[in-house]
Amino acid sequence: MKRPFFQFDETAHETWRLLWERQMPVAQKYASKYWLQGVDKIGLTPDRIPDFEKMDKIFQDLVGWELVSTPVQYSDGQEWFENLVQKKFLITEYIRDQKDLDYTPLPDIWHDAFGHLPLMADQRYADYIHKFAQYAVKFTKEQRKSLGSLWWYTIEFGFIREGDPDDELGGIRAFGAGLMSSHGEMLKAFSDQVQKIPYAIEEFEYVDPSPHVMHNKLFILDSFEQLEHSVEEWIEKHPQFIVKSEH
Ligand SMILES: [Fe+2]
Repeated sequence: MKRPFFQFDETAHETWRLLWERQMPVAQKYASKYWLQGVDKIGLTPDRIPDFEKMDKIFQDLVGWELVSTPVQYSDGQEWFENLVQKKFLITEYIRDQKDLDYTPLPDIWHDAFGHLPLMADQRYADYIHKFAQYAVKFTKEQRKSLGSLWWYTIEFGFIREGDPDDELGGIRAFGAGLMSSHGEMLKAFSDQVQKIPYAIEEFEYVDPSPHVMHNKLFILDSFEQLEHSVEEWIEKHPQFIVKSEH
């Protein structure tokens, strides 16, 4: 029996409205087309946190994934990846306080639903996440650390080349869910304060990112294909890691 989806109260829906009001104009300017198309595909709306009963059906139809409500505020890597392997995307039951619109150290429903879900509605993206998780569960926690940095600097905070290189954004767009869901981080990311350099695993894999400070250096994926191959690239670079036996 599936755990029923959490029913958010009116204050939580109001927080969603406030976040949407601030972030959507910014997102429309800076976001990748993959994210923008996803917003339409899954029917996210400004007025309330999505109805996850409906959203779950939408995802099952679109990409064959399930949404699963979890009371755990921050799932550890193993649990997170084991769910992804089963094509289950965990949805938190927590939303930031209205006095902390700019910042939450723990991913909340705004981050999950506004940041991640639009991209997860793309079959190729969902397949990539699935593939990533299938690899991730084969490594120990220690070995997985640098794989976690790959996730962080692409899925959460990556840019992607898109559009005309001579356009006002220099042909790059926000791709990561963490950028999409954070107003301050998004604005900073497109300012001169953040160094934006081409994606290269060696550049970030041993950086231990902190969820408590904004980034000063971020990475640009050349294409969606580059993302799709990134996890195999990581595997090839780490032949010394012993793959755990399947169980
Ligand atoms: Fe995230």
